[in-house]
Amino acid sequence: MSTLFSHLRRKPIGLLSLLLQIPLLTLAAPSGHSIAVRLAVEEPRLIGALYFTTNDPSGNAIVAGQLQSNGSVIFSNITIYPTQGNGSHVKSTDPHSPDALRSQGAIAVSKSAQVLATVNAGSNTVSLFNISDPSAPWNISLINQPVGSFGGFPLSITFNKMGNLAYVLNGGATNGVTCYNVSKESGLIPIAGSDRKISNVSQTDPPTTAKGMPNQLVLTEDETKLFVSVSGVSEDDPGFITGWLIDADGLLSDVIPPMYPAAPGYSPSSFAEVPKTNALIVTDHTFGLEVFNLTAASDPNSCGPAIPGAMANTNVSRLSFSERTGNFHLIDSKNRDVIEITVNYTLNTTVMNSSRLCKSCTPLDSNIADLNGTEYLYVLDAKNTAVIAVQLLNPGNATVIGSYNASGLPTNSGNIQGLASFISRSS
Ligand SMILES: *[C@@H]1O[C@H](CO)[C@@H](O)[C@H](O)[C@H]1NC(C)=O
Ligand SMILES: *[C@@H]1O[C@H](CO)[C@@H](O)[C@H](O)[C@H]1NC(C)=O
Ligand SMILES: *[C@@H]1O[C@H](CO)[C@@H](O)[C@H](O)[C@H]1NC(C)=O
Ligand SMILES: *[C@@H]1O[C@H](CO)[C@@H](O)[C@H](O)[C@H]1NC(C)=O
Ligand SMILES: *[C@@H]1O[C@H](CO)[C@@H](O)[C@H](O)[C@H]1NC(C)=O
Ligand SMILES: *[C@@H]1O[C@H](CO)[C@@H](O)[C@H](O)[C@H]1NC(C)=O
Ligand SMILES: *[C@@H]1O[C@H](CO)[C@@H](O)[C@H](O)[C@H]1NC(C)=O
Ligand SMILES: *[C@@H]1O[C@H](CO)[C@@H](O)[C@H](O)[C@H]1NC(C)=O
Ligand SMILES: *[C@@H]1O[C@H](CO)[C@@H](O)[C@H](O)[C@H]1NC(C)=O
Ligand SMILES: *[C@@H]1O[C@H](CO)[C@@H](O)[C@H](O)[C@H]1NC(C)=O
Ligand SMILES: *[C@@H]1O[C@H](CO)[C@@H](O)[C@H](O)[C@H]1NC(C)=O
Ligand SMILES: *[C@@H]1O[C@H](CO)[C@@H](O)[C@H](O)[C@H]1NC(C)=O
Repeated sequence: MSTLFSHLRRKPIGLLSLLLQIPLLTLAAPSGHSIAVRLAVEEPRLIGALYFTTNDPSGNAIVAGQLQSNGSVIFSNITIYPTQGNGSHVKSTDPHSPDALRSQGAIAVSKSAQVLATVNAGSNTVSLFNISDPSAPWNISLINQPVGSFGGFPLSITFNKMGNLAYVLNGGATNGVTCYNVSKESGLIPIAGSDRKISNVSQTDPPTTAKGMPNQLVLTEDETKLFVSVSGVSEDDPGFITGWLIDADGLLSDVIPPMYPAAPGYSPSSFAEVPKTNALIVTDHTFGLEVFNLTAASDPNSCGPAIPGAMANTNVSRLSFSERTGNFHLIDSKNRDVIEITVNYTLNTTVMNSSRLCKSCTPLDSNIADLNGTEYLYVLDAKNTAVIAVQLLNPGNATVIGSYNASGLPTNSGNIQGLASFISRSS
C-alpha cells in the first residue's frame, strides 16, 4: 500500500488520466482488502479567451468569452470593451442582414505580442488592445486611440508571427493594404508610404454590394508574400487573388499579378495556404472551393489553374485549418454545415465529412483553438448571437458539443463579426 501511494505522489497526472478513463477503479491492497477509488474528473479550468466584435455602427466593441478546458465558452462573466470606433455594413436590401463585413479576419490576435487588433469599418480606423495578463486574456485594454486605416471600410487584419507588424485590408472607396508597427505602449503606428492599392477594384464607403469587394488578407507562413482575395461580380467580371512580395523590413514590395479562378468559379472569398505546398485553398461564393497552384501562377503568362471542388449548392464563405485533423473545415452558411476537406499532394480536394452545426442558426466566422491538447472549432452564430463549439478529435469526426449564447450582452445579430482566440498555455 505504501508503494502504491508513493507511486501516486510521484505521478499524480498519470493516475488522473487513468481515472478519467475508468469510472470505478478497484485496486487490490497487499492486505487483501480492496480500495475503491471514485471517478475523479478534473474540474475544467479557464484556459483562454474567444473574441468577436459587435461591429455596431453606433459604437463598436469587443466581446470576450472565457474558454474552459473542456471546450465550453462562458459569456456571463465578462464586460465588453469599446474600440472607440464604429462598425458598418455592406449595404444590401436588408440593412440588418447578418455578415455585415462579408470578410474573414475582422479580429486578429498575436500570441507572441499578446495583443488583439480589430477594424472599425464605419470610422476607417483600427484599434489595438493589450492582453496584459496572458493568464486572464478575457480582460483586455485599449492601447491609445484607434488609428486611421488609410482607406475606406477596413475589414480584415493580420499580424506577422513576431507580432511587431500588422497589415490591414481596406475594402471601400479607397482600397488596399496598410502596414503598421505594433507597440504595446503606443498602439498601431502607420508606416508612411507602406500602403498599396488593388487595381481593378471600384467600391464605395460602405460598399453597396459584396460583389467586387476585397475580402481577406493572408500572410504566407514564410512571411515572403501577402495575398488578398477580391470577390467577383459575374463570370464575365470575375474576382481574383493578388498580393505583394514582402521585403526584408516586412513591408510590401512588388505586386503579384491577379490570378483568376477557372469557370464556373468567379468569386474568391476566404482563403488560406495549403501547408507543405505552394498553393492556396480558396472558398468561392459561387460554387464552393478552388485551389490555386502558385508554382504555375509565378509564370507571368499563367493564372494558375483552379480545381473545382465537389460542392454545388453550398454557400461556403469561411475556412480554417486544423493541425490535428490535417484538414480544412469550411463553414457552409446556407446549409448550416461544417464541411471537412482534405487537400492532397496533387492538390485535389476531397470532402471527408459534413456535419450539421444546428437546426436554426446563421454560422459565419470560424476559429480553431487547441485547448489542452484537443482542438475545437468555434463558429460565430449570428442568428442566436452565440458561438457553436465543435470538437475535432480525429479526421472526419467533427462533433458539435455545445452552443454558447452571448445574448445577454449588447450585441446585434445583424452586426456581429469576426472570431479569434488566445490560449493561456498549451498544456
Ligand atoms: C489536460 O490534459 C491532461 C493530459 O491529457 C489531462 O491529464 C488533464 O486532466 C487536462 N486538464 C484539464 C483541466 O482538462
Ligand atoms: C460613431 O457613431 C456615433 C453615432 O452615430 C457618432 O456620434 C460618432 O461620431 C461616431 N464615432 C466615430 C469615431 O466615427
Ligand atoms: C464543461 O464543464 C462545465 C463545468 O463542469 C460544464 O457545465 C459543461 O457542460 C462542460 N462542457 C462540456 C462541453 O462538456
Ligand atoms: C469569472 O472569471 C473569474 C476570472 O476573471 C473567475 O475567477 C471566476 O470563477 C469566474 N466566475 C464564473 C461564475 O465563471
Ligand atoms: C500592456 O501590457 C504589458 C504587460 O503585458 C505592459 O507592460 C504594458 O505597459 C501594457 N501597455 C499599456 C499601454 O498599458
Ligand atoms: C484587468 O486588467 C487591468 C489592467 O489592464 C487591471 O487594472 C484590472 O484590475 C483587471 N481586471 C480584472 C478583473 O482582473
Ligand atoms: C517601425 O519599426 C521599425 C523597426 O523597429 C523602425 O525602423 C521604424 O522606424 C518604425 N516605423 C515607425 C513609423 O514607427
Ligand atoms: C484589370 O482587369 C482586366 C480584365 O478584367 C485585365 O486585363 C487587366 O490586366 C487588369 N489590370 C490590372 C492592373 O490588374
Ligand atoms: C503546379 O504547377 C507547376 C508548374 O506549372 C507544375 O509543375 C506542378 O505539377 C503543379 N502542381 C500540381 C500539384 O498540380
Ligand atoms: C489525390 O486525390 C485525388 C482525388 O481524390 C485522387 O484521384 C488522387 O489519386 C490523389 N493523389 C494522391 C497522390 O494521393
Ligand atoms: C486532380 O487535379 C488535376 C489537376 O491538378 C485534375 O486534372 C484532375 O482531374 C483531378 N482529379 C480529380 C479526381 O479530381
Ligand atoms: C468520433 O467522435 C465520437 C464522439 O466524440 C466518438 O464517440 C467516436 O469514437 C469518434 N470516432 C472516431 C472514429 O474517432
